[in-house]
Parts: sequence; structure tokens; C-alpha cells
Amino acid sequence: MTSFIAPKPGSWDGEARPLYLAPMSGVTDLPYRLLAKECGADVTITEFTNSTALSREAAASWRRMETHHSEVPFIPQIFGGDIDDMATAAEMLADSADIIDLNFGCPAPKVTNVCAGAALMGEPDRLVTMVDTIVQRVDTPVTAKMRLGTGQRANNAVEICERLEAVGAQRLCIHGRTLRQRYTGVADWDTIAEAVNRVEVPVVANGDVVDAASARACLEHTHAAGLMIGRGAIGRPGVFGDIKVGLGWMDETDLPWVAATEEWHELSEVGQAFAQRRWCWDRYIALSEATIGIQSRWMQRHAIAFTKGLPRAKKARLAMHAEDTDKGMANAISAFLSAGELASE
Ligand SMILES: Cc1cc2nc3c(=O)[nH]c(=O)nc-3n(C[C@H](O)[C@H](O)[C@H](O)COP(=O)(O)O)c2cc1C
Repeated sequence: MTSFIAPKPGSWDGEARPLYLAPMSGVTDLPYRLLAKECGADVTITEFTNSTALSREAAASWRRMETHHSEVPFIPQIFGGDIDDMATAAEMLADSADIIDLNFGCPAPKVTNVCAGAALMGEPDRLVTMVDTIVQRVDTPVTAKMRLGTGQRANNAVEICERLEAVGAQRLCIHGRTLRQRYTGVADWDTIAEAVNRVEVPVVANGDVVDAASARACLEHTHAAGLMIGRGAIGRPGVFGDIKVGLGWMDETDLPWVAATEEWHELSEVGQAFAQRRWCWDRYIALSEATIGIQSRWMQRHAIAFTKGLPRAKKARLAMHAEDTDKGMANAISAFLSAGELASE
């Protein structure tokens, strides 16, 4: 096992377990992943990238695989329906990646129509052969993220986990929904708990963890080796630190936004939400500038997410769109978050 993958832990007894920022297409760009780490995430993974495009050296796809020396471990995630393209892409990534993650969870029709992503849960032999082939062709550790099954027949995630362990996958992650469910319904943590019991490689639990209470409940239920957080971290990268404080894994004073806000304890709950998001926003912009530069499309998406649910958010977005430079837009959001923080004291 690589030093980046700790052995399977025993039952959860309250101790810290790693928190993962879920791979999310259109959300987890490089500066956002670096930001999540500063906010308390232990592991980040790139958004999924098409292995066929990578194997043909498509520049846009390779740009999604950009990393930075501070992103350790670097875990690119790939998807595809063609076993050879998947193995070729894995070989091309093997030198730069610390771990290669394979996507068997995407429910988007443009992915499942080519029998990739979650559709492969309906073709278990093909899925296992794919992982086996990749494991044989690269020395880099291979991990897999899957759903419960397709939802069209009995769920097979547990059986697939056992078979992937046998062919050498080193860590598994289960999103507790079927392909058919997409993002509806409640995540099924029972099946994740069963997989945790049945395999000796670490299993990470994913689905509906959004705060300290749900993180505790999920660990008590599954005893998983770690928790992966997706939608709860969109616009709220601070969720990782909040969970760690809530579960007693770190002191509140070590949260960077608390350390940076002198009057933190005098702020109302809304004021603290503004202050946290302002710190995170300013760091997102600084990390963008230090790495890939501010990219309009990404920044505007994050701006909407960062302001969501805050009072006067609509006004902030209008102010952002009135600007004609990326930096001007970034400053407009920062000003909105700072003003909100002060007004809410
Ligand atoms: C906008 C969005 C994009 C996603 N993109 C990916 C992806 O690229 N790769 C992947 O494995 N899962 C992807 N997912 C699924 C998440 O990683 C995660 O499994 C799912 O959101 C369930 O976790 P949650 O309940 O914490 O959100 C995506 C989810 C969302 C909402």
C-alpha cells in the first residue's frame, strides 16, 4: 500500500478520520481544491475527465488534470467505456499522479450512453476487467468510486467492492445512491456499512454528509475509513473545518477564518457566515492568481454558490455582473461579503 492510503481502520470510536472533497465536475477546479485543503479537507480529487480525450492528448482535457506541488496527494479521476483508452490515460497520468481514481458513479446520459460511469455497475464483469487491466498496466495505486448499483436490478456495490479488492484496487468509495436515483432520495449508508465489513481495503462513505451531525451519524453507522463531501462543500469549503471542530478533531481558534477575524465571537451567526465566506472567497481568488489565474467561468459559478442563501445575495450578483474585468468581479463579491460581515455584527 502507498503511504497515501492508510490501512483500513477498525470501528469508529470518535477519532479523526480523513475528510474528502468529492470530485465535482464544474466545481472542483485546482484553486478550489487547494482552498478546500486550507479549510480542513484532507484529500481532494480532480473532476472526472474523459479517458478517450486524454489518450488522444486533447488539450482541454489535460487542463482539467492540472495540479500544484502543494496538492498532495494528487488524485486525477478518469472515466470512460473503452478499457484500452482508460488504461492508456492511466499510463499517461501515472508519473504525475499519486493515485488514479476511476469513476463508476456518473449518472449523466452523455457518460452512461457510452457505457461509462455508473452504467458500468450494470456490466460488472466489464468493470472488473477494466480495473484489473489498469492495475496491471500502472504502478500507481488505483482507487474506484461507485454507486450502489444501477437501480434496475439488485444493488451490487458490495460484490463489486469484493471483486475490485481481489484485482488490486487499493481504496473504494461508495456514493449511497443508485444510477436511477441520480441525486434524489436519501443516501443508503447500510450498504456502505456492509461493504466496510466485507473488504479489507479502506472504504470511504459518500452521500448526504453536510455538517458535523451528519458526519458523526455516517461514521457511527458505517465505520468508514473516511467521509466524502460533495454538495455540502459547494460554495461552503469551510464545511470541512466546521465538521472537524464539531467533532472535536480541531480547535475553533485554528480555523483560518476565525484566526483572521478579530471580533469573531461578537459576530451574529449570519455575521460569522459572511466572515467565513469572505475569507474563503479571498483565498479562492488568491489561489487562482497563484496557480491557473482567475478564470471567468469558474469564478462566476463559485460566486453564485458562495453568496447563495445570504441576505442581499441577488444584489451582489448584479454588482458582480456590472463589472467588466475578472478582478473587478472578484472584488465586488469580496466587498459584498465584507459589508455583510460588518452589517451583521
Ligand atoms: C455538480 C456535481 C458534479 C459532480 N461531478 C462528479 C465527478 O466529476 N466525479 C464523480 O465521481 N462524482 C461527481 N459528482 C458526485 C459527487 O462526487 C458525490 O458523489 C455526490 O454529490 C454525492 O455526495 P453528496 O451527497 O455529498 O453531494 C458530482 C456531483 C455534483 C453535484
